[in-house]
Amino acid sequence: MGYLQTDSATAAKNYCVRCISCGEVHAALAVDFRCLKCGDLLEVKFINWSAGSAPDPVELKLLWRERRASNQALDASGVWRFRDVLPTLDDWSSAITLREGNTPIYDLPRCARSAGVDHLRAKHQGMNPTGSFKDTGMTVAISFARQNKFHWVACASTGNTSASMAAYAARGGMRSLVVIPDGKIAWGKLSQSLDYGALTCQLRTDFDGCVRVLDEIIRRYPIYLLNSVNPFRLEGQKTAAIELLEQLDWQVPDHVIVPGGNLGNNSALGKAFLEMKRLGVVQSVPRISVIQAEGANPLYRTVHEKHGRELVTVEADTLATAIRIGNPASWRKSLKVLQATEGCVEQVSEAELAVAKAEIGADGVGCEPASAVTLAGLKKLVKSGFVRPSDSVVLVLTGHVLKDPEYTIKFHRGDLSVPRMEDETFHAMTAQQRKAPVVLDASADAVLRALVAEEERDG
Ligand code: F0G
Repeated sequence: MGYLQTDSATAAKNYCVRCISCGEVHAALAVDFRCLKCGDLLEVKFINWSAGSAPDPVELKLLWRERRASNQALDASGVWRFRDVLPTLDDWSSAITLREGNTPIYDLPRCARSAGVDHLRAKHQGMNPTGSFKDTGMTVAISFARQNKFHWVACASTGNTSASMAAYAARGGMRSLVVIPDGKIAWGKLSQSLDYGALTCQLRTDFDGCVRVLDEIIRRYPIYLLNSVNPFRLEGQKTAAIELLEQLDWQVPDHVIVPGGNLGNNSALGKAFLEMKRLGVVQSVPRISVIQAEGANPLYRTVHEKHGRELVTVEADTLATAIRIGNPASWRKSLKVLQATEGCVEQVSEAELAVAKAEIGADGVGCEPASAVTLAGLKKLVKSGFVRPSDSVVLVLTGHVLKDPEYTIKFHRGDLSVPRMEDETFHAMTAQQRKAPVVLDASADAVLRALVAEEERDG
């Protein structure tokens, strides 16, 4: 019989950390979480999954279901509920949790029609405690930060990682340093980091510049790095894939479609699907496809121009600020997942993503701009024949609609200017989805006239 993580306070260490390129196993980790031998990224590998001692898939499924009925903090977390396939903490009770995960799957009937598929679902990771998928990885990595006795944690961010880190650091009694590009993150995200009490530094550079500055800081000060180069982050982010499979009664979808920025998330989801197959929890994996904005498309160009052999970096520019990244850290991990799951990478224009975002809203779900690239990308994948109309498809919506209200309001008012497109062209392409507010005199007659006019227009 395989091992399972019991309810005892401690469990034996079940993992090692090794380099994704040269395979070197690291007993001690460098401050930047890179391989000391070749400089590439590290990943968590489970040491007791071979030689007949791997967890039993039937037991795992039962245990994970049972824990859903438990009120214990670890079981109530949609991340730690899957702790049997996470790296073990020395003491489970030291996990810092905000009841993350447990996010819904929604049907998107209008979006399905618009994309040309029979059925479409979204796993909404924006329904996490701080409004983005980052919480699932943060709960794990910050728990390791505290286990390693760090007082300070830090990240460079386009806004969501920083919001999440600030919240979890506050919960764990740690101090947090946020390094963000000045003027290039959404207000909702900035306001969160302030409210959760982070030291928030807005640098006059872009995300890639923030990463460079932070890289020097961690070498000069004892501070724990919480960007997605930290392999423990990706372990937590894996659980969204496991939870998704569980919600689908372990029926594997044909396609999972994910936005691509720093490329940690698709790497994490891919690792989870491949691990679930390896353990026999499922018999196949979905194709994982990554969608980027045209103005921040390093992975797209790396695949199409260099056949994945070397990274093409770009000067990123998109209004989907969450994925405004030109030099993604996890590009090699991401390529491995694309290859192992036979997925693909696509890019979409600012107009395509704006239309898609409004369509996701019109299905009563909503998301932030970066998440909407998934629907825009799906439309292209259907047109190219990569996705067939009868395929089962899940979009991963990564951030909540309230993260970036400025984008949404400007869009609907017709005030949005996007990079690389004339305003007139953009407005013509998005006119059908725009729903501007109507300013009227305070009379029932005026409001009813507006109602009738709308009914006549919509038919
Ligand atoms: N969607 C949202 C809403 C994000 O915030 C991010 C990344 C992504 C997609 C892309 O995920 O980087 O794993 O490929 N946001 C990071 C941040 C970079 O700092 O919040 P990825």
